Formats: sequence, C-alpha cells, structure tokens
Amino acid sequence: MLLCIDDANVEAIRRLVEYYPIDGVSTNPTIISRTKREPFEVLKEIREIIGSERELFAQVLATEADGMLADAKRIIKELGDNTIVKIPCTTEGFKAMKMCHKEGIRLLGTAIYTPMQGFIAAKCGCEYLAPYVNRIDNMGYDGVRVAMEIQDMLENNGLDYCGLLAASFKNSQQIIDLIKYGVKAVTVPVDVFDNFVKNAAIDAAVDQFTKDFANLVGPGKTMSNC
Ligand code: G3P
Repeated sequence: MLLCIDDANVEAIRRLVEYYPIDGVSTNPTIISRTKREPFEVLKEIREIIGSERELFAQVLATEADGMLADAKRIIKELGDNTIVKIPCTTEGFKAMKMCHKEGIRLLGTAIYTPMQGFIAAKCGCEYLAPYVNRIDNMGYDGVRVAMEIQDMLENNGLDYCGLLAASFKNSQQIIDLIKYGVKAVTVPVDVFDNFVKNAAIDAAVDQFTKDFANLVGPGKTMSNC
C-alpha cells in the first residue's frame, strides 16, 4: 500500500518525507495554485525533494484530448521517470487516456465520483484511479463505499494493472477503512497527516515513560547513557 502526500507545499513535503514512510506526492491545479508559484518550478522542487524513485502525480489542464496529450508529454519531459499524469475522467479525458497509453505514458484517472468513471478509465489504460472520497460524502453518498465498489470492479474483471489512489480525505477514519480494504494507495493532505498522532493520550503515555525513567536513573538520561 502506497502512502502519498496530497499537497504542493514544499516545506510541508520536506518535513513529512523526513518523518513518514512517504511513497509519493500528488498534486492538482487547485493544490498548485495555493502555492502562488510557477507550476513547473514548484513541481520540479517537489521532484528534487522526493527524489527520482518516488511517484509524482501532476494533472493536465487542457479540456480536449489533443491538448491533454500535449500537456501529458510536457509533464513527463519536465518531471522525468516515475511521474504519473492525472487526467480527469470526462469524455475527452477518456480519449486522451487512450492516446497517452499508446505512447507509454503512465496515467491516473481523476475527478472520480462514480464507479463507472473508474471502470472506463481502467479500460483506457490507467494505472491509478482517484475517487474523491470526502467530496462524495459531501454530496450525501458514501465515498468509502464508492471507492470499495471501484476496487471490487477492478478485481472481478481482471483489471489488476490498475488500482486506487484514493483521494480527497478529511479524516483518518476514511483512510483506515480503505487501508483495511487493501487499496493500492491513498493520498493524504498535510493537515490530515498531522492529525494522525495528535492525541492527548499518546502524549500522556510518552510523558509518563520519561518521568518514570527519570525517577529511576536521573533526569535527561536515556538508554544510550544511563
Ligand atoms: O487531488 C484530488 C483530491 O485530492 C481533492 O481533494 O480536498 O479538494 O476534495 P479535496
């Protein structure tokens, strides 16, 4: 299971890569716009931080297939190996996916709100599908359920070259449900990452260990120097 960061804030990415087992970074045009920086400048900096082995996801902006293919080619040219091009699961997007797939470009189908979008994108050659879990929840449907249905469709139809990069999370529970279900990957915004271990009970447990050990061997001592 891959754990990715859904953000383009380079300071936050640098910090999370240092502390967490990060497999990649995903972006979209909205996420990049929040940096107020030139798109390829920020994407190249992210590539530098994560190295050439981790996966970097960047999205096309054109709205018709030929333009999406041109966007995809530039993204790959600028960002190198292990870059996956995100294409929205629209009619033009499906056409572009087939064109890109023929050229050997690795793809993710994005803006997925329904299982059928995911199924078609997988058939078009996508390696990843991004169902928008929290946005689906906000529409009054069950985002985790939709993501699970897409995963079932892939498994039951031999589309095993394709898996989920589940996206649009607002809390840990949505993520845990999909990790338990065995999805290929999740991408998590920085604020949700920071809440993974923000818990008074965890802090209290660690504080108590420190106090008890200090009572035994003196303050400031650890296992390396007690
Ligand atoms: O990249 C797509 C997805 O992660 C969007 O998330 O938080 O805008 O619903 P959000």
